[in-house]
Amino acid sequence: MFPRLKLFLASSLGRKTVMAVTGLLLVGFLVLHLAGNLLLFADDTGATFDAYAAQYHARPALLYTAEVLLVALFWCHIYLAFRTTLDNREARQRGYAIRQSLGKRTIASASMFVTGAFILAFLIVHLLDFRLNPASEQGLARLVKARLTSPLGISIYAVALLALGLHLSHAVKSALQTLGINHPRFTPLLSKAALGLAVVLFIGFASIPLMLLGGGGPQNTVVGEGTRPSPTEAEPAPVPVKGAIGDER
Ligand code: HEM
Repeated sequence: MFPRLKLFLASSLGRKTVMAVTGLLLVGFLVLHLAGNLLLFADDTGATFDAYAAQYHARPALLYTAEVLLVALFWCHIYLAFRTTLDNREARQRGYAIRQSLGKRTIASASMFVTGAFILAFLIVHLLDFRLNPASEQGLARLVKARLTSPLGISIYAVALLALGLHLSHAVKSALQTLGINHPRFTPLLSKAALGLAVVLFIGFASIPLMLLGGGGPQNTVVGEGTRPSPTEAEPAPVPVKGAIGDER
């Protein structure tokens, strides 16, 4: 590796900088992901959402490149979070008073590692549930609905979204601070905007299970018929989607 880069990454400032950049890029992914997921609101067949998913699945080279990049970002961010937490713990044991940031300590800043661990656990379940689940071929929108309206599914999402909201409420502000974006007039405004972004992401993601629980989103459709309404739509009976984790069978 380049010696300068190695030196930079060995320093606490270097690691925090890379954590901030990877974190902000992941927030960028979340904004795009939320925008795509909000298509579930578009109609009550799931057609728009499924068509959107089909579009990027039809471009495997692009999809796999984006996924490799995402994995690299998550890996870097999580690895550096572990390293920084261990370093801070060691420093504390040696008697150094280390402050994570110059701002005052809040519940969000004190629980970054814990909320991060919750998000990581959620991600594993989430990928098994949607990205790697063969049942997604029966229609991703229907799978999302089956998952997010099951008691276990909604409980996992509720905990994960609370952890994500808390994590982001500190993360974006802290990343800007680490990157030295500091200005006597604009910093307070930027801090508010960063908090606003976290709130928008939280409300946006939470709105999806709430809408689905309220009866919105894809209605009962016959497997294989994609978006055509079920012939029994007058008296819809839930069609179980096999393979969804937490599904009541
Ligand atoms: C209500 C909230 C959410 C819904 C309905 C949802 C839905 C989905 C679906 C359907 C997929 C599979 C896409 C496909 O295979 O084409 C997916 C993938 C993914 N989701 Fe979510 N998601 C939600 C929240 C989140 C959150 C909060 C995170 C991150 C903390 C996240 C991270 C991911 C990642 C990393 C992927 C894999 C992307 C890929 O490999 O293409 N999701 N999500």
